[in-house]
Amino acid sequence: MKYDAIKSLLSTDKIGSTVTICGWVRTFRNDTFLAVNDGSTIKNIQLVIDREEVSEEIRKKLTTGASICATGELIESKGSGQATEVKVATLELLGEANPDEFPIQMKRHSLDFLREKAHLRFRTSTFSAVFRIRHGMTFAIHKYFNDNGFYNLHTPIITGSDAEGAGEMFRVTTLDIDNPPRTEDGKVDEKEDFFGKISNLTVSGQLEAELGAMALGKVYTFGPTFRAENSNTSRHLAEFWMIEPEVAFNDLVDNMDLAEDFLRYLVKYALDNFADDLAFLDEREAKENQSKPANERPELGLLDKLKFVADNDFERITYTEAIRVLLNSKPYKKKKFKFPIEWGIDLQSEHERFLVEKHFKKPVIITDYPAGIKAFYMRANEDGKTVAAMDILVPGIGEIIGGSQREERLDELVEKCKAFNIPEEHIWWYLDLRKFGTAKHAGFGLGFERLVMFVTGMGNIRDVIPFPRTPQNAEF
Ligand code: 4AD
Ligand code: MG
Repeated sequence: MKYDAIKSLLSTDKIGSTVTICGWVRTFRNDTFLAVNDGSTIKNIQLVIDREEVSEEIRKKLTTGASICATGELIESKGSGQATEVKVATLELLGEANPDEFPIQMKRHSLDFLREKAHLRFRTSTFSAVFRIRHGMTFAIHKYFNDNGFYNLHTPIITGSDAEGAGEMFRVTTLDIDNPPRTEDGKVDEKEDFFGKISNLTVSGQLEAELGAMALGKVYTFGPTFRAENSNTSRHLAEFWMIEPEVAFNDLVDNMDLAEDFLRYLVKYALDNFADDLAFLDEREAKENQSKPANERPELGLLDKLKFVADNDFERITYTEAIRVLLNSKPYKKKKFKFPIEWGIDLQSEHERFLVEKHFKKPVIITDYPAGIKAFYMRANEDGKTVAAMDILVPGIGEIIGGSQREERLDELVEKCKAFNIPEEHIWWYLDLRKFGTAKHAGFGLGFERLVMFVTGMGNIRDVIPFPRTPQNAEF
């Protein structure tokens, strides 16, 4: 049906016209003032109800969460807080929401409570703001790449290769798990499975994106990825969305330049297009921070942080320099870090947060990690110890982007496969790319939910994806 988005009625240019509003009741005051929200904006519109026009029976049912459609004249508001309101002529109650049962009332609910009600949490201001911004970021990502000559490539969701070599994959099978076909030596007969071999849900579209980049030049993927890591943290999901650009003829510095330009573009896009939602979330975060101990409160509020990131260059340091900074740091000297620090370790969250939040106080790009802690496809550096990797760390989140220049030399890559126990016949097609017209190329992966966390200031990744998938949890 045709109706007017509340967003379009909040400014005075349609004053005097008859409008139709469909939405959900937020509050009903004094048997007269009905605040309605339709999701088009964080703001509600006020409907003024004449008791002559709307029966008492209906008025009684105008409780939080009920759905209505109303028509009436848009008039200038006499009350403070809004420019316009609607003088209701007709009102239809579409669906009641019994206040004894409807769980989302006009009070502050905890995010934990709302996670249990993920089917209804969209009705809150916080979640509607988060999901409008999530949409905005999706759109901005496609716009950025389209405007910059990239092609979107759909890489497979079901795959036979483990791109990251981490072995944390979800198996896809149509075999009867209680009674699978077996080979003569008693093993499950993979050849009988749907694809005639073991297949899994993808952990990354990168390897396939590389194939596209080495013909189309600049490509990007934006798809769901799946990781069966049993880590129940506020930054990990078993199903998340990842954006992976891949560019032929780029080296690591080009890759960093692209990643930084891209992230700053997205932050600016949010500031320019989601001011109302961000203002709400900024206030929300400020309130939340009041209950934290002083040393855990971020120095900048959400909006100031986003403006800072939009306007300032990221810090760029090598892994070796990062280790040196950590070894010279106060928390290290005072034995405040839980995990040991020495060249070769994988940086822990506490180390990353120190570098970003306390030492540099801005996003940091760390490059040239030890080969042993990074994936097989990263290009070996001249020093024989490190690879052309880059991770981008941001305040409050830690790693938001991981990427690298790729190993484009066949011999080196074959050696790497051996060292990482990756059978050549599993990725013969990936190796072929290095046989025919090979060239340097680079790319990275941005965790979409981590981006949305960063932009909205939400502290738990489960609150920025509509229906989170985490260990022991696939409800809804
Ligand atoms: O660093 P990762 O594992 O890199 C790759 O997958 C590469 N193939 C990317 C590339 O070079 N094309 O993952 C990339 C990003 C991380 O920086 C993080 O933001 C996010 O994906 N990520 C997760 N987000 C939510 N839940 C998880 N379990 C995540 N694992 C990684
Ligand atoms: Mg990573």
